[in-house]
Amino acid sequence: IDGKIELLKQKNEAALKGGGEKRIEAQHKKGKLTARERLELLLDEGTFQELDRFVMHRAKDFGLDKEHYLGDGVVTGYGEINGRLVYVFSQDFTVFGGSLSETHAEKICKIMDMAMKNGAPVIGLNDSGGARIQEGVNSLGGYADIFYRNTLASGVIPQISAIMGPCAGGAVYSPAITDFIFMVENTSYMFVTGPNVVKTVTQETVTAEELGGASAHSTKSGVTHFACPNELECIKHIKSILSYLPQNCEEVAPVYPYELLEDEIREELNSLVPDNPNHPYDMRDVVKGIVDEDSFLEVHENYADNIVVGFARIAGRSIGVVGNQPQSMAGVLDNHASTKAARFVRTCDSFNVPLLVLVDVPGFLPGTDQEWNGIISNGAKLLYAFSEATVPRITVITRKAYGGAYDVMNSKHIGADLNFAWPTAEIAVMGAKGASEIIFKREIAESEDPEAKLQEKVEDYTEKFANPYRAAHRGFIDEVIIPADTRSKLIKAYKMLENKVDKIPRKKHGNIPL
Ligand code: COA
Repeated sequence: IDGKIELLKQKNEAALKGGGEKRIEAQHKKGKLTARERLELLLDEGTFQELDRFVMHRAKDFGLDKEHYLGDGVVTGYGEINGRLVYVFSQDFTVFGGSLSETHAEKICKIMDMAMKNGAPVIGLNDSGGARIQEGVNSLGGYADIFYRNTLASGVIPQISAIMGPCAGGAVYSPAITDFIFMVENTSYMFVTGPNVVKTVTQETVTAEELGGASAHSTKSGVTHFACPNELECIKHIKSILSYLPQNCEEVAPVYPYELLEDEIREELNSLVPDNPNHPYDMRDVVKGIVDEDSFLEVHENYADNIVVGFARIAGRSIGVVGNQPQSMAGVLDNHASTKAARFVRTCDSFNVPLLVLVDVPGFLPGTDQEWNGIISNGAKLLYAFSEATVPRITVITRKAYGGAYDVMNSKHIGADLNFAWPTAEIAVMGAKGASEIIFKREIAESEDPEAKLQEKVEDYTEKFANPYRAAHRGFIDEVIIPADTRSKLIKAYKMLENKVDKIPRKKHGNIPL
């Protein structure tokens, strides 16, 4: 037996070396950690259980029959993060550039299948040159096996992708289907076709970083939810986001211990909204005044910043926050803001995370750019996402709720459970000036002093509609509350809604206007 144990030890040692010292050194030189180093940081100490360490590829062409590495370029298994089970795969760039072979894909599929059976998240650390070129269609088939599983697992278990090196061609479509993508600045990139192909086809000259780096995807395309300054921060963020999510769609997120204070009054909220309705303020300050201290984790921070989305906790319970951002484009809804928020709402609803919607919205952004890029369909996505969400849904209107955007932003009419308004709320079809110019057009034009007439009409309209009381008279607003009381009200409201049961009609699946 001693000899046999010795052989096993030798094999284990060989597997741990991946593509060898030289390539590990090259990986470090690029400012990147190895596949195993990343897992060590990600998982609770001593919890990682590796599977398929000795798997090798079966390819024979182009000299591959003479080149084998134990594990075949990906480390897979399960472990724990903050004491909770997760399944992981971590691509090893030191072995064939982390490229995906048939067997490499089989290893990933194995842990995805286990994760589905046992109801726990899958985290993929991607660092790969793409399809193993020597294997041809076998490798492409392997990708598709993963994409298919990503799709079936969507909404069942949380799926998280970290891009920690190259991720190009077909490889991008697995992360794209998962719930959250994290990228590392300067050492990772994602694109369907790289700079060389771009140059040939469109004559554009662009670097990999410009085309598909963390900055491009966190600000321009919105493909990535988080751009992290380095791998350590990236791993920290992954752990953090999991703390707001349940293990699967049948569970709720963990509740953190929280001792309620006698009153949860936050005086600072009373003076947050400026007297002048055209002056901006930061909706993040409203969020911070409502949720548990330091619990707000913003998602998609640098993309479509006219809407703020993210996770937080209130009295220890996880919530998803969506808020118009008055300090960016007056908080108007445009194409990007609508799709960003719609996606977040659906993610929360998939995983039983209650929603808090903070409204200060002057409407949808006008213009050819918006119309031709589909603001009708994109705005409808957000409307649809709220309407079909069955989690507890609470709205607080802090200031403007104008026009169709009032309906869209989780109004009572589309199924919100509780709708609060601050006394500063203005719930109307549009702003007082715009409204007066339309409905009193003739009267103003025919008046001896049109300016004064307009002013008179604006004041009249403001008095009648620029307040929350019309809506409250109809019961569209459940309660007009003092801003300082918001947190206290919400703690009670979410508790009241804790056992909410709601169902949408039985169907194969809805047809959200994509
Ligand atoms: N299939 C097989 N082997 C691959 C590979 C792939 N798709 N991508 C990289 N490799 C191998 C390289 O041959 C090299 O092997 P070696 O260590 O034995 O020399 C190793 O991985 C590292 O690659 P290298 O090119 O030296 O690394 P780099 O950091 O300079 O460049 C890439 C990284 C990803 C830009 C580059 O490897 C590349 O362009 N790969 C091909 C991408 C592609 O077109 N994939 C197929 C489409 S999905």
